[in-house]
Amino acid sequence: MASVWFLMVVLISVQKVFGDVCLKDETELTCNECMRCNGDWCTARGSKHCYLTTATEDGTCPSALEKPHIEKEVTKPGVAIQPVYAERTLLINKPTKIDITYNASAKMAPELKMVYSTQTYNVELMEYATECSGDTCTSTIQAKAATNFCNVTGGISEYIEVTFDVGLSEKARIKYNVPCACPCSGEVETASVYCSKNGDFSCGACTCNSGWTGEFCEINICSKRGDVVQCSLNPRKPDECSGNGYCSECETCICYTDREGSQYFDQENNCEDLCMSITNGDCEDCLVTDTLGECNKCSEITIEKLNRSLTDERDFKNRKVWVSCKADLDDCGPIEYYARQDESKQKYVMMVKHCNEIISEALVPSETKVPIILGVLGIVAAVAAVGGVMLWKHLNAVPPVPLNDPQYQNIDAEDCTGENPLYKPPTSSFKNPTYGKW
Ligand SMILES: *[C@@H]1O[C@H](CO)[C@@H](O)[C@H](O)[C@H]1NC(C)=O
Ligand SMILES: *[C@@H]1O[C@H](CO)[C@@H](O)[C@H](O)[C@H]1NC(C)=O
Ligand SMILES: *[C@@H]1O[C@H](CO)[C@@H](O)[C@H](O)[C@H]1NC(C)=O
Repeated sequence: MASVWFLMVVLISVQKVFGDVCLKDETELTCNECMRCNGDWCTARGSKHCYLTTATEDGTCPSALEKPHIEKEVTKPGVAIQPVYAERTLLINKPTKIDITYNASAKMAPELKMVYSTQTYNVELMEYATECSGDTCTSTIQAKAATNFCNVTGGISEYIEVTFDVGLSEKARIKYNVPCACPCSGEVETASVYCSKNGDFSCGACTCNSGWTGEFCEINICSKRGDVVQCSLNPRKPDECSGNGYCSECETCICYTDREGSQYFDQENNCEDLCMSITNGDCEDCLVTDTLGECNKCSEITIEKLNRSLTDERDFKNRKVWVSCKADLDDCGPIEYYARQDESKQKYVMMVKHCNEIISEALVPSETKVPIILGVLGIVAAVAAVGGVMLWKHLNAVPPVPLNDPQYQNIDAEDCTGENPLYKPPTSSFKNPTYGKW
């Protein structure tokens, strides 16, 4: 069932793509597209090219219009039906009529059938009129090819075949030749100087290579957007865009939006994340201060005392407000902290583990572990706390509760930077002096 739906969606979108060509702006159409949409193409350089409403009438095209390829008409007489075979040209969206005469004492209902097409069957066929006199009748047949008759593969001469049957020994056969492309599009000057060597020249106009636009393909789409090159051109490296995004068109980074802390990824700066932006600049020194408040070496950073219940905070999009960071400080060692950033780009840091004992004393409350974990675990932890051994178990595992709490359901998927904020190595729990009391 799912695959059926998928197929339907694909078919609907394919249909849309082909059907929509004629709804594009005239100035964006190529000669072939213009012809497929029943437009007039002006081959004069530097002028407007496609006119979906006739150009000849308002005289805006200074030179000749591109003419569709027209095959010679063919008419072959039959015995009971005239003609028994015919070839005619059918231009897109222009009704074409042909008379067929046959011997009959009274009006008959002819059967019209499209028996073959080199493109699609999007042609409207009808018996336009029938007149009888004596023992002959003449039927006028009209054909009209729709703007979606030609698909993108269409050449300068496509065709359909139609049969006309009134139950006689002979059937009439009509071949309609349909031009689906401009004859001039067969002559292409690739990487033309006229097109700044960024495109191909044919039918008086440039078809620009991707990344280029403008009448002469002189405008680089990337530089027009003012983007900065953020990615190395070749080969692409996985750590480009800081591992927090991917390289896109015009060598710019597109940052992921579904990662922990992705709201802080810096689009302008290779998707640098919050942890990186704290340690990358001069502000790294703020991580070795033991004073609370705005860091005097770097006012962008405010140091706060660790409050673990804050680390569960979510914003209105249910994203974690505090991201967990790790760093390795020269002459000291590894540290762990939480960070967040507000709308004015002020960054807040709460130290969790510090390699320097003095700083650790000042910023990491030593008594926090048990009560906070108790708070988070809630009722179940309280029950567990009755037995010390059980509590120890809980301290070493991902919290077993509350499974139906949405905050916990996606903890693995979201915390791809690792660190479960609730996890404590067993040794630190044992060292906790309050352990025995619980
Ligand atoms: C059809 O009609 C024409 C003239 O009325 C006649 O000459 C001819 O023989 C007829 N053909 C047949 C097959 O009946
Ligand atoms: C396009 O034309 C080809 C024949 O040239 C035909 O086989 C194909 O079905 C057509 N595609 C669509 C989407 O109509
Ligand atoms: C920690 O944060 C919570 C929630 O914002 C607050 O109610 C509590 O007072 C804070 N605890 C400390 C010790 O500041």
